[in-house]
Amino acid sequence: MISVDETTTHPIQDQRQLDHRYDGIAKVTGRAKYAAEFPVENVAYAHIVQATIPSGTIVSIDQSVATHAAGVYSIITPFNAPKITVPGNVNVLQDTNVLYSGQPIAVVVARSLPEAHEAAKLLRIQYKEQPAKLDFNALLKDARAPKRGGTTRRGDPEASLAKATVVVDQIYSTPIQNHNPMEPHATIASWDGDKLSVYDATQGISGVQGSLARAFSIPPANVHVQCPYTGGGFGTKGYVWSHTVLAAMAAKVAQRPVKLALGREQMFGPVGSRPNTYQHIKLAASADGKLLLQQHDSTCFTSLMSDWIESAAAATALLYDSESLTTTHNLVDMNLGMGTWMRAPGEATGSVGLEIALDELAEKLNIDPIQLRLINYAEKDPGKGLPWSSKHLRECYTQAADRFGWSKRTAQPGQRREGNKLIGYGMATANYGAGRRPSSAVVRILPNGRVFVGVGTQDLGTGTYTILAQTAADTLFIDPTLVDVKLGDTTLPPSGGSGGSTTAASVCPGVYDAAIQAKLKLIQLASADAQSPLHGATADDVHTRDGKLFLKSNPEKSETFTALIARNGNTPIEATATSEMPKDRDTFSSHSWGAIFAEVAVDVDTHMVQVRRMVGTYDIGTLINAKTGTNQLIGGVVWGVSMALLEETLIDTTYGRTLNENLAEYHVPVNADIHQIDVTAVGIPDYKFNPLGSRGIGEIGITGAAAAIANAIYNATGKRVRDLPITLDKIMNA
Ligand code: MOS
Repeated sequence: MISVDETTTHPIQDQRQLDHRYDGIAKVTGRAKYAAEFPVENVAYAHIVQATIPSGTIVSIDQSVATHAAGVYSIITPFNAPKITVPGNVNVLQDTNVLYSGQPIAVVVARSLPEAHEAAKLLRIQYKEQPAKLDFNALLKDARAPKRGGTTRRGDPEASLAKATVVVDQIYSTPIQNHNPMEPHATIASWDGDKLSVYDATQGISGVQGSLARAFSIPPANVHVQCPYTGGGFGTKGYVWSHTVLAAMAAKVAQRPVKLALGREQMFGPVGSRPNTYQHIKLAASADGKLLLQQHDSTCFTSLMSDWIESAAAATALLYDSESLTTTHNLVDMNLGMGTWMRAPGEATGSVGLEIALDELAEKLNIDPIQLRLINYAEKDPGKGLPWSSKHLRECYTQAADRFGWSKRTAQPGQRREGNKLIGYGMATANYGAGRRPSSAVVRILPNGRVFVGVGTQDLGTGTYTILAQTAADTLFIDPTLVDVKLGDTTLPPSGGSGGSTTAASVCPGVYDAAIQAKLKLIQLASADAQSPLHGATADDVHTRDGKLFLKSNPEKSETFTALIARNGNTPIEATATSEMPKDRDTFSSHSWGAIFAEVAVDVDTHMVQVRRMVGTYDIGTLINAKTGTNQLIGGVVWGVSMALLEETLIDTTYGRTLNENLAEYHVPVNADIHQIDVTAVGIPDYKFNPLGSRGIGEIGITGAAAAIANAIYNATGKRVRDLPITLDKIMNA
């Protein structure tokens, strides 16, 4: 970190929040273009043909009729596809194996999308079927350890358990879920010789660039990826799936640009899912509430393509202190599409099991659920034995409990009734790991006084444009509306993928560093310029504000950026920087924290649950932008409601098809399901973690939220449902 002046190094000390989204107007007016919307001349339309069996091999694909169908340019199958390097665990027509129903097995390229669809129906596909593994519960007995990792052990679990006065020992389960960002995946690919250009809906333009370069054996510099806007990702756009590679392959074969946009139904299978979890949790405590043993064994399905662990037990190893601990993850091999990251991978599901189990333990101990969590508060990271870079979870409990009115809760369930509704309160802890990675940026101060910021990152709709405009404005002390931000283009300075709540903490420091360096260059220019009122000044002598440089000791001595640049060749002042990771990063552990409270009303006749209120307070370090930041948190809490009550991918155990591959039957909350959601941030900066003090914010909102609702339903009804989603039948039968 270079510092010009200690009073100006932390942008947040004079934070000028952009009170609107940088990209808001472009989005609401339709000017913001998403991957599939770019006009590309002579573009052909590709349609992916998917396997209709869950397991076996493709014996033949007869394309004689389809080839002559109207508008067809090319049909690519495993029998004629060009040989490429398979980047990752995706099906790109390099073999005839079928590992799940819905797997891409051919691509039809045609003049129009309807023609591609029609031709696809004319393919005659012969399979040799094999028995498929499709019933998770029946296969549970065959669960196996993953090839790598997944277990932790501390203390002497048997001895700790023997000492306990109270034990909770239960199974908690969560279903498979599929990502449904508003924008389904899409790629437009075009070749110019051995140069490939793509528009892709992605959470990581650099990842797409690298994967396509590997697939087609060309240098990464030959692959130009653009993605100015992503219509939500939530993890599914963090991986490079078949369609992106197949679009590029199809463009090569058809010798013209190709657009490949997935239909909503194609979002269920070929682009990942959140695996189900089957969690066995044992919590053992002494009578005073001290945890002696935490045991968390989680099993999930994995595809036959790769081991993918939904690491539901991972956070258990660090969230609460206990004398002993064991966590394991096991996998059940199934003929399904691959598991992948989905919003708060691991913590979203793991917090369901652990936080309901704690509620059960609190009741058995007759201790308030918040108090139980405070008794077992982890003052340092119990797994790594390291201090936290910053942890203000106590403040989260206190502030959220006050705003929620937790003191009005009756510990005994079923006590509050309003007409035919039972009212209940529940709470849970929220947490998610904080990560960041190096990120580069260019900042250019233009002769007209505007400032250009360029970063090879992407905005998933989270507010990256907004916070980068703010960061540059704060660092240079200019009006944020003077900043133009360009993202989502691999010709810009490289950054990482946007996943795991790492973007803000990674990209803001890069822009901050570049802006500081640009400011230094301006000061040097003025200092060397005999005509400047700041001639001879050192960096320490000079401040900037509102587009002006001035002497700290004598603010009368000043000039505007534009006047200085005009006198000196009228060329932009530009600096590129890469944010450095903290040198002492191995000496602390960084996490975000929160407390989430729910009030539910459960109809005594229909068992219908209404989530009346959710109140959450989060310790996510600096809240860089109140609007976009709390919007992320609210989105996460809404997803918690979805997870608790509605969301579930249903797999047919005979054919392996997803039964509800549409938004009519794959239930997510609508406005009528969402009532009051009140989220706040503690707002204490974590400067050990990064110079802006901000930790990630994307994932944490969903964590704990579903458990808080489940606990509230128990408090309302006395019925403990441990299998999500908590549908009416489960409450009725509990
Ligand atoms: Mo994060 S899994 O990319 O929502």
